[in-house]
Amino acid sequence: MQRPYVIDELITAKAIAARIEELCREIHSEFRGTDKLIVVGLLRGSFIFIADLVRELDLPVEVDFLEASSYGDGMESSKEVRILKDLRGAIEGRDVLVVEDIVDTGFTLSHVIGLLQSRGPARMKSIALLDKPTRREIAIKADWTGFEIPDEFVVGYGIDYAQRNRNLGFIGSVRFTD
Ligand code: PRP
Repeated sequence: MQRPYVIDELITAKAIAARIEELCREIHSEFRGTDKLIVVGLLRGSFIFIADLVRELDLPVEVDFLEASSYGDGMESSKEVRILKDLRGAIEGRDVLVVEDIVDTGFTLSHVIGLLQSRGPARMKSIALLDKPTRREIAIKADWTGFEIPDEFVVGYGIDYAQRNRNLGFIGSVRFTD
């Protein structure tokens, strides 16, 4: 049984779109001139962010996905990061942009970057829409961050609570009402 809750809007769809435009200008400067960029989305949480990001990015890109799981259906991170689905393509000698929805403890991003680095990309950068720095257990930060947020339980724009609410167009925080 799930606890009853309401969702308070934390970051509007408009604010997200504006921030993505800014981030894409910076990403464009970093990768200008390359024709070997692969944008790697970490499933499932990044699926909406990566969709908006690549459409705003005026660069030739390939898109691939990797699924790493550190949470079950609950709210607590486990330190065990499992690769549930690997990339389809090789990244050796390629430019790679890893796209994450949220960095919490840092275990997922750290594990994924370590794994992909071992495959010999020419250059690897990372971007996270959200960052909860106060929750960090591993010293890692994405090269670009959309928004730093407090330690609130957030949903929407790809992020779930018990697999629900990924389809909200905004980021909201879950407030339990029981
Ligand atoms: C969540 C989130 C990040 C990760 C962040 O993924 O999408 O990938 O946890 O937490 P961490 O910094 O503590 O590792 P989750 O495993 O819930 O999978 P999902 O993306 O499919 O929802």
